[in-house]
Amino acid sequence: MSDNVILVGFMGAGKSSVGHILARRLGRCFVETDDMITAREGRPIPEIFADKGEAHFRALEEETLRLLALKRGDVIATGGGLPCRDGRVEALRTMGTVVWLSGDLAALYERALRSGERPMLRGKTREEVEALYKRREPFYAKADLSVDTTGLNPDRVAAEVVKALQGRGRLPHPTLSHHGDQGASS
Ligand code: S3P
Repeated sequence: MSDNVILVGFMGAGKSSVGHILARRLGRCFVETDDMITAREGRPIPEIFADKGEAHFRALEEETLRLLALKRGDVIATGGGLPCRDGRVEALRTMGTVVWLSGDLAALYERALRSGERPMLRGKTREEVEALYKRREPFYAKADLSVDTTGLNPDRVAAEVVKALQGRGRLPHPTLSHHGDQGASS
């Protein structure tokens, strides 16, 4: 397994902001699947949805997933819908540790409306967004780890992710690794 850290979760979970902080803290590169798609298509995601529709965007996500298999040791933030198809979370789990940034839907929804243009929210009622979340939740729940973001700022969420990764032995513990290294060489 490649040791990427892969963030999944609903729109508004803070995958981008947490991912940036986490990558800096771990000294890793940060990659966003939405950026990979935007770069490949040469235009922003709302335009891709408007011109070619959701099905085309989902096909681009499939292609992106194949490219992610080449990544090693990166922090990767995925678009909110990327893991929500059969086999996707399983594929991501072969590439690293999948971390679900979960949270209270009301807070996620509010944050998602506030920051950036999101085609999946356009023209949808609150109830429709809730139904979308309910359909997606079982996919996110297949992640290796989950961190509840409710009431936490991105910095705190990143700290919780680090703790959760260390707890699962997915990162060297900063205070223990020194002794561990000594032990290994003696
Ligand atoms: C989507 C979420 C977006 C982006 C696209 C579709 C979704 O990413 O990939 O607009 O289906 O939930 P964020 O989760 O970063 O908003």
